[in-house]
Amino acid sequence: MSYQPSARWLNAVLACAMLLTSYAEAAEKLAHVTILATGGTIAGSGASSTTTVGYTAATVGVNSLIAAVPELAKVAEVKGEQVFQIASENMSNEHWLKLAKRVNTLLAQPDVDGIVITHGTDTLEETAYFLDLTVKSKKPVVLVGAMRPGTALSADGPINLYNAVLLAASQEAVGKGVLVAMNDQIHAARDVTKTNTSTPDSFKTPELGMLGYIQGNKPYFYHVSSRKNTADTEFDISQLDTLPQVDIVYGYANVNPVALNALVAAGAKGIIHAGVGDGSLAASVKTGLVAARKQGVLIVRSSRVGQGIVARNGEANDDELDFVASDTLNPQKARILLMLALTRTSDSKQIQRMFYTY
Ligand code: DGL
Repeated sequence: MSYQPSARWLNAVLACAMLLTSYAEAAEKLAHVTILATGGTIAGSGASSTTTVGYTAATVGVNSLIAAVPELAKVAEVKGEQVFQIASENMSNEHWLKLAKRVNTLLAQPDVDGIVITHGTDTLEETAYFLDLTVKSKKPVVLVGAMRPGTALSADGPINLYNAVLLAASQEAVGKGVLVAMNDQIHAARDVTKTNTSTPDSFKTPELGMLGYIQGNKPYFYHVSSRKNTADTEFDISQLDTLPQVDIVYGYANVNPVALNALVAAGAKGIIHAGVGDGSLAASVKTGLVAARKQGVLIVRSSRVGQGIVARNGEANDDELDFVASDTLNPQKARILLMLALTRTSDSKQIQRMFYTY
């Protein structure tokens, strides 16, 4: 006697097949996001749940970070790569070049729709800006970190990672430049900065303003960055293995010019002066900067103040001294732009144009 399946059984099988098809179709519709892990507190661990300082950064691997947030599977098809495993105070030019090349390789692939980079918060703003100037794609690139290790009460890493992947998977983030997703907020790489040593709301874009929020599983943009970025920049790091040495000297009352002179003697190709006020130069340091310029070192006047425009020909006669004014870039970001500018030209007028363009 042959087996005659009941109509009810056949309907059940058909329903399961349709459900699996719909899941497969839904999965097919999810964006493909690659998470590149570099270390930091988001990958950190502490001795107890109340250890929010004095923990160890860069101990948890990318697959563990992904496994700790199963909700990621609802917003993207996620893959992970462990590019580095470092505390970000140890980030170097070589790390940046390797990371930017990997990002560009992945984004050139049709099966990669966006990238999330997990990173220590100490230099996150710098890596973000470096990538903002060197990524050659309009696809989303989102940097994310955490102010508390994953072992801590109310750790911010998991929700920050979820938001970052959701943002990188979104159409809204396409063409917006490199973004930073922290504390439910969306910031532009050029203008965001770490403003607090330890609190979860540390990342801010004072005065110039953040771009938007991530709320209820959706990104909301209210602004866009006005400066050129990513595929629209003139910088190409694809053939570079090193970057020109550019250092920062800090301005303060009674400043000692020894540090400046030592950096120039050590071969700096550019100096960022983090001046007091509107990029003011103490007489003793001005003498050293003028001498350095005469040796061919490119000089950029920035400010330790953190907000506002360092005006060309304001606190110093840049035309006469052949210095460059940093516009609104803080010293650590001015250093990044000057390093990349020096891979293209040593012409101070061209470099000043770049500081008004990016
Ligand atoms: N060592 C710091 C870093 O890796 C920890 C800070 C953090 O990631 O929040 O940037």
